[in-house]
Amino acid sequence: MKILVTAGPTREPIDPVRFISNYSTGYMGYSLARCAKRRGHDVRLVSGPVELTPPRGIKVVHVETAAGMLHEVKKNLPWCDCLIMAAAVSDYRPERYSTGKIKKDKNKVLLRLVRNPDILMSARSAFRDKAIVGFCLETGDLVKNAIRKLRSKGLDIVVANKVDERHSPFGKGKTEVTIIDRNGRLDKIKNAAKEEISKILLDKIEGYGIL
Ligand code: CTP
Repeated sequence: MKILVTAGPTREPIDPVRFISNYSTGYMGYSLARCAKRRGHDVRLVSGPVELTPPRGIKVVHVETAAGMLHEVKKNLPWCDCLIMAAAVSDYRPERYSTGKIKKDKNKVLLRLVRNPDILMSARSAFRDKAIVGFCLETGDLVKNAIRKLRSKGLDIVVANKVDERHSPFGKGKTEVTIIDRNGRLDKIKNAAKEEISKILLDKIEGYGIL
């Protein structure tokens, strides 16, 4: 099967030395890519800036921004059977990029942000028949918000990550996720390593009849 995975954060530049980003490390996406490859799938990885070794035997395309990730996903979508968007795409970017470094000559600086395009939405509207898997991070109403995203983005599966003082989805530690599919099946996986989550998710994708 041909599986396109995205991983890591995006960086939205403010000036030549600064950017907006998030805490994503890429660990989940890289683990998924590696696991899919091991199972014999053909895998391509679109990666934001991370400090991870590229998985062996997988074509990795490196991007910085949400726009760059959108471009690469669009380019590789016709090739794949399944898109797994594990990347933590920045929802906003600075409205203006300053070509010169912003100096600290003012007491306050106002940074105006504009919405980035939604990659999952544009993937779904371009291809009705591909299997599309999304992730989401929620600090409250995990299942309710995840189901809303699954429906509004036309996903087949959503992996909902809980974020609170006890649960961090970032990095290589164990975490808690709830995997929800478009038929309303809901599986809560507690205290699981990302390698284990990868296996469970790929079992679902393979057994779902969408590949
Ligand atoms: N995503 C995307 N394009 C974006 C933002 C997010 O494709 N511009 C994808 C992510 O890769 C993830 C899913 O959408 O698979 C959910 O991302 P999340 O940030 O949790 O949800 P949002 O839809 O951005 O909603 P909100 O930030 O309001 O919770």
